[in-house]
Amino acid sequence: MKEDTIITTAGRHPDENHGFVNPPVYHASTIVSPTLAEFRERRSHRWEPGVFTYGRQGTPTHEALEEACAALLGGDRAVALSSGLAAINAALFAFLEKGDHLLMVDSVYGPSRRVCDSFLARFGVETTYYDPTIGAGIRDLIRDNTKLVYLESPGSLTFEVQDIDPIVEEAKKRGCVTIIDDTWSSGVFFKPFQHGIDVSAIAATKYIVGHSDVMMGMLTTTSEHWQRVRQAASDLGANAGPDDVYLALRGLRTIKVRMLRHYETGMKLARWLEARPEVERVLHPALESDPGHALWKRYFTGACGLFGVVLKPVEEPAIAAMLDGLELYGMGASWGGFESLILLTDPASIRSATRARWEAEGPTLRIHAGLEDPDDLIADLEAGFARMNAAR
Ligand SMILES: Cc1ncc(COP(=O)(O)O)c(C=O)c1O
Repeated sequence: MKEDTIITTAGRHPDENHGFVNPPVYHASTIVSPTLAEFRERRSHRWEPGVFTYGRQGTPTHEALEEACAALLGGDRAVALSSGLAAINAALFAFLEKGDHLLMVDSVYGPSRRVCDSFLARFGVETTYYDPTIGAGIRDLIRDNTKLVYLESPGSLTFEVQDIDPIVEEAKKRGCVTIIDDTWSSGVFFKPFQHGIDVSAIAATKYIVGHSDVMMGMLTTTSEHWQRVRQAASDLGANAGPDDVYLALRGLRTIKVRMLRHYETGMKLARWLEARPEVERVLHPALESDPGHALWKRYFTGACGLFGVVLKPVEEPAIAAMLDGLELYGMGASWGGFESLILLTDPASIRSATRARWEAEGPTLRIHAGLEDPDDLIADLEAGFARMNAAR
């Protein structure tokens, strides 16, 4: 089946549900068994499809979303958690223990980095941050106790694309598990399991939900790693609520058409920004001028609406004059919804291995291109630059 058909059909079982197109929302903590034998039998098959033991272990509503997500990514099984960060934590906790070493990409999402520097450090796991552009050079950083190599491509502030295949190859040679934060493509424009990745973590809060009204995370794995990841997700206790799961499943059905439009509008904005005199460079790997463009072409079939803009040096009051008066761009930390967003970011503050690369630059903005008309979005930015220039 082709991708659009998978997105439309996966996880749907109208035959088991009176013919209704969508699954019902099961609100559940307790699931009762008629006999002791059935109770025991059920528990012995925990984590198998169609087996439900307790609300935290999911319901048929969860299973519908999880089945659809696994099919979209080309993985074996998936599990929904209460946020993207909960999913990332469960994936890390599934594999790491005291004395282990973790190789973490330096461009990782800030709160994931915090988990490494706080929780993981406290529990005796050492983290080394590596340059996102390292490629096969990762081999020099792998130690005997390196358990896990974590990727995020592109990074969500600076948009470096990683050369995934050699990293995975080197990790596998040394028996390391690989996890990728795959939120930027959200399963649509990049297929992690075709590249040998073991676990995909997606903040479904962004494009899967797509409407800025739900927090959710998805972990998708190969069959080899499923039990471990599923058990960790349950142990963390951060299961997704059924109404949110339903909304995420509804969002998933339209993800491809939305993503294509985010891609198109993002490219229009990026090209327009690239030609502006106030702009130093645009951080968008689908632009030919981007240093990650060749890698992007190798690994991705499209782009979402999120990209960065490095401005030429300008004082903060002038930036504020631009941002404060924007009518169509909200100033907010998230992305992936139908609406456009803009944010002043500070990549150097959350870097260690590659801090110098970002310290020398001018102020950096992050833009999420929403589903508004691109001409209106451009006109709003143009008026913003006029305010910035007047305030200089
Ligand atoms: C790249 C990336 N990964 C993970 C997350 C975490 O997702 P959530 O906010 O659902 O916890 C985010 C949130 O902004 C993100 O941008």
